[in-house]
Amino acid sequence: MSNSIGGFGGRWTLDKLECVRLYLAAYAKVMMNQNFKTAYIDAFAGTGYTRFKNEKSIPAGVFEQEMAEPEAEDFRQGSAQIALGIEPPFGKYIFIEKDRKRAHELEKLKEKFPQRAASIKIEVGDANAELARLCDPKMKWGGRRAVLFLDPYGMQVDWSTIEGAGRTKNIDMLFLFPLGMGVMRLLRRDPVQIPPENAQCLTKLFGTPDWQKEFYVDNDQPSIFDDPGTDLGRVKAATPEKVANFWLKRLGDAFEHVSPKGRVLCNSKNSPLYLLCFAAGNPKGVTIMNSIFKKSTNTTR
Ligand SMILES: C[S@@+](CC[C@H](N)C(=O)[O-])C[C@H]1O[C@@H](n2cnc3c(N)ncnc32)[C@H](O)[C@@H]1O
Repeated sequence: MSNSIGGFGGRWTLDKLECVRLYLAAYAKVMMNQNFKTAYIDAFAGTGYTRFKNEKSIPAGVFEQEMAEPEAEDFRQGSAQIALGIEPPFGKYIFIEKDRKRAHELEKLKEKFPQRAASIKIEVGDANAELARLCDPKMKWGGRRAVLFLDPYGMQVDWSTIEGAGRTKNIDMLFLFPLGMGVMRLLRRDPVQIPPENAQCLTKLFGTPDWQKEFYVDNDQPSIFDDPGTDLGRVKAATPEKVANFWLKRLGDAFEHVSPKGRVLCNSKNSPLYLLCFAAGNPKGVTIMNSIFKKSTNTTR
């Protein structure tokens, strides 16, 4: 295991992974007596493990500790390893990772889980491109079911990817939506000051330029220098809650069923970083995920 690959997780990372683990375990149980071919698709798979700065900052017992480096670093299972540990197993594991070094770490999971090795496929590449292939309308999804986990650091997921996953009708999707880590950071007080490439990035994520109407209102607060009747432009009205609601509404355009709230993951200062959201082609998944979101303890603060 290399120490130098990947950044450090926070307590919210444990909340996220615990939600993923609980959903995968419930899903595997439901699928146990059905005849579907199942797959777990981890489109931002990482290395298979997550690093934390030190043990003291992490509440004991949330996860079994995978491996502890002395003092400074603490390793826990990442999403790929969590999925491989679920019983009964998925029929296939597709791990997509852009970074070659990280993908190399993923290869080692075949040795760690020899009984799953033949079912593991590692794709080194861009998640959006790989998923476009997997979710191509020509691909036959009848008889197949999959859980897709999208866990980007930031704004890497394109709307077309979300749409493609929804179109299969047979994918259950968990997505770490970049609420504070992406969208809130890109929204400037004055929309004119948003660099065009950032505006484009927002439109690619939401799949519509409507975020401009949604997150900005006419400015009615003249400064002492403004003459009456001056066009004061528009001003930011977006809050994390508003952004989350807009996103959840958008998800409903791509998927038939969406968890209505998701789970906001905050940093130690209680600032929202991400929204863990869930969407599926069937209502059962949403019922299960809603109850997981409801019960998931907040270890973030
Ligand atoms: C937050 S980490 C994933 C953590 C992992 N899910 C876990 O629980 O261990 C995000 C990963 O996505 C990878 N990545 C970034 N952009 C990507 C892209 N466009 N396609 C595929 N992987 C990407 C990064 O190299 C990084 O390993």
